[in-house]
Amino acid sequence: MAKLKNPKKKPKSSKKALIKRKVKPKKKRVIVGAKKIKLAKVIKAKISKKKISKLKVINKKTEAIEVSRSRYTPKLLRGMKDILPEDQIVREYLIKKLVKLSKAYGFQEIITPILEERALFEKSTGIATDIVEKQMYQFTDRSGKKVVLRPEFTPSVARAYIEHGMFNLPQPLKFFYYGPVFRYERPQAGRFRQFYQFGLEVLGSESPLIDAEIILFSQTLFQDLGLQINIQINSLGCLNCRTTYREELKKYLRSRSRTLCPDCQKRLSKNPLRVLDCKVPQCQEITRQAPQLINFLCPNCKNHFTKVLECLDEANVVYTLNPYLVRGLDYYTRTVFELWPAVSEGEEDSNSSQTALGGGGRYDPLIESLGGRETPGTGVSYGLERIINEIKIQRVRVSLSQGPQVFFAQIGESAARQALRIFNDLQKQGIKIAENLAKTSLKSQMKIADEMGVKLTLILGQQETKDKTIIIRDMKTGNQEKVDVTKLVKELKKRLK
Ligand code: HAM
Repeated sequence: MAKLKNPKKKPKSSKKALIKRKVKPKKKRVIVGAKKIKLAKVIKAKISKKKISKLKVINKKTEAIEVSRSRYTPKLLRGMKDILPEDQIVREYLIKKLVKLSKAYGFQEIITPILEERALFEKSTGIATDIVEKQMYQFTDRSGKKVVLRPEFTPSVARAYIEHGMFNLPQPLKFFYYGPVFRYERPQAGRFRQFYQFGLEVLGSESPLIDAEIILFSQTLFQDLGLQINIQINSLGCLNCRTTYREELKKYLRSRSRTLCPDCQKRLSKNPLRVLDCKVPQCQEITRQAPQLINFLCPNCKNHFTKVLECLDEANVVYTLNPYLVRGLDYYTRTVFELWPAVSEGEEDSNSSQTALGGGGRYDPLIESLGGRETPGTGVSYGLERIINEIKIQRVRVSLSQGPQVFFAQIGESAARQALRIFNDLQKQGIKIAENLAKTSLKSQMKIADEMGVKLTLILGQQETKDKTIIIRDMKTGNQEKVDVTKLVKELKKRLK
């Protein structure tokens, strides 16, 4: 179709031009809407085919007039949601809480663009995943580049980490982010095509303590919100353990392939692990007897997972081991987890999995697969609309509270092991406490405490863990005092009055 190159240039439909083409000009009069279209059709019939393309310009103009004059009722696109002022109270409350808690755990905000190269997600989220295969909003920009509206944040954070040379900074780096993401899914309750995620990513640490920290963060968040959740956890092992397992699983599934749903029959060759979290009852029946990944973990992965679970136990995190939890993104290795709304009596657990409030896991090969240096990573994202919906369903009262008053600093391995538990116990006792477990030197931890403007800092070193004591430092006077751990809560409450 010919394009109107210069909109200011008059199309050759003037009286003069029509005479030149031996078309009898009509008397000059104002012709609008349907009449103009009819006229264009008459002219079209009378002139040669060669000139038709030029006349298409006239048609295009008349169509535009048509649209602007016809009755048009604007409508929200399917799967999209307006966030109205009355929705803001809960939303603001939730975001403030998430930002405050993230800062207390030592995370810093990162903001990445909504638009990214398509190839980023093909290489990270995975070319055979539902997200990349079916759900991305994609288009070619004016320079011919294939771009997408981000369907998740993790690959963008990884890209930013590589592009800005962040591996040169002291590791690990702890990021939090929030904003809209887009997935062209079939809309239903709690499933939108544009929704908001809030997430955390830790880059540069392989430690199981960090996996446990992120899961503990999630438990603390939902406890703070007064929402009942169910933490589902599994380990996918490393790429080596998964190769062996994938073959075993394929063997098992192939022998039952006729009974699988059509989608799973396709998944069987492309991505057999995805069969494990299919929600179709006949597939679930089959996967219930399938070999379990946990039995195929190599010694290193087994050890890593055991340590994650030990740290969670130590911090009193309640979780469910779910050998069928595989998650729908390709980059995961080792720990994976999801946060399901707690089921009420008589409700199916599989419903909760479809309305997960959050999910995440470890992705050690991701940065390298995108061209960066070998950098392990782990993280979580929460779906804000789903959490807000739960807050409304469970009629949680929302109120705003002040920032942390105490900072928790730890030095040495034995202190780090006990840190999560003590930190969590104090949070539960209502002490507004912050930490940065990723930092190991006392100097850097004291600097953070100072910047936060806390009243007191707790210092736990090797000697204190042996003595079952802890140091309380008054940040204003610089005075320090050793107290018995059992008396800590009482002592803090007295000093914070
Ligand atoms: P994901 O499980 O795809 O993980 O999404 C995380 C959360 O986003 C889900 O648990 C859910 O609450 C919410 N969500 C997903 N799809 C929709 C939807 N269509 N409508 C409403 N809410 C939705 C990720 O995106 C990973 N990037 C998480 C991660 C971070 N892994 C490591 N770091």
